[in-house]
Amino acid sequence: MSDTPALRLENIHLKLASHGGDVNILRGINLEIMRGETVAIVGPSGSGKSSMMMVIAGLERATSGRVEIAGQDVTAYSEDELALFRRDHVGIVFQDFHLVPTMSALENVAVPLEFSGIANPFEKARAQLETVGLGHRLEHYPSQLSGGEQQRVALARAFATNPTLLLADEPTGNLDGETGRKVMELLFSRHKAQNNTLLLITHDPKLAEKCDRIIEVKDGLIQSSELKVAAS
Ligand SMILES: Nc1ncnc2c1ncn2[C@@H]1O[C@H](COP(=O)(O)OP(=O)(O)OP(=O)(O)O)[C@@H](O)[C@H]1O
Ligand SMILES: [Mg+2]
Repeated sequence: MSDTPALRLENIHLKLASHGGDVNILRGINLEIMRGETVAIVGPSGSGKSSMMMVIAGLERATSGRVEIAGQDVTAYSEDELALFRRDHVGIVFQDFHLVPTMSALENVAVPLEFSGIANPFEKARAQLETVGLGHRLEHYPSQLSGGEQQRVALARAFATNPTLLLADEPTGNLDGETGRKVMELLFSRHKAQNNTLLLITHDPKLAEKCDRIIEVKDGLIQSSELKVAAS
């Protein structure tokens, strides 16, 4: 395993304009995460957790600072370069699933693979959906799937490219307790199988405890970073 961090954030600031003037949302975030780590991001509502994830994903551009993923400085990438980089290296799971409503479960997973130029995208998508227990729901549209099933499609899609970084923003926030627990088990087992780096935003202290590290964000800054298990 190389020593290059899976993710490095250097002095990230994010300032956005709003009606009441500029808002300093992130105020100097520094963070280094190694490959294979699972990291929980916790903190009060409005503290900047989702904003930080959007900056890491390249969906929001930092006002200043530097983002490195797998040793690559993506800060200066153009929108097109970012989109390509994200497609190949970053998997994202959102609270509200973000599936394409006009595509079947199979297409939701296969089409991004096809865009990535990966061989046999539909076969690979089918295998991913089988892994998450949805082999019998391939032709269903999102509206024909339960919330838990939709989130499992989103997981299959996020993991399909074997991304360096897997980002999940409250992935069980819209699911009932038992369904959420199953989706979370799946998230951790897929992470384990691929040994990618998992960043999980959660309000659930029990879930946070399952991660190697807990990072607390408050008022746009990292308040504390607690390592749960001794590094081997
Ligand atoms: N586009 C925007 N323009 C101005 N302010 C914004 C914008 N998006 C978010 N904010 C503000 O940035 C702050 C951080 O928001 P963010 O969504 O990152 O919080 P969060 O920690 O994810 O909260 P939650 O736990 O409720 O999801 C909030 O005060 C929010 O109102
Ligand atoms: Mg949020």
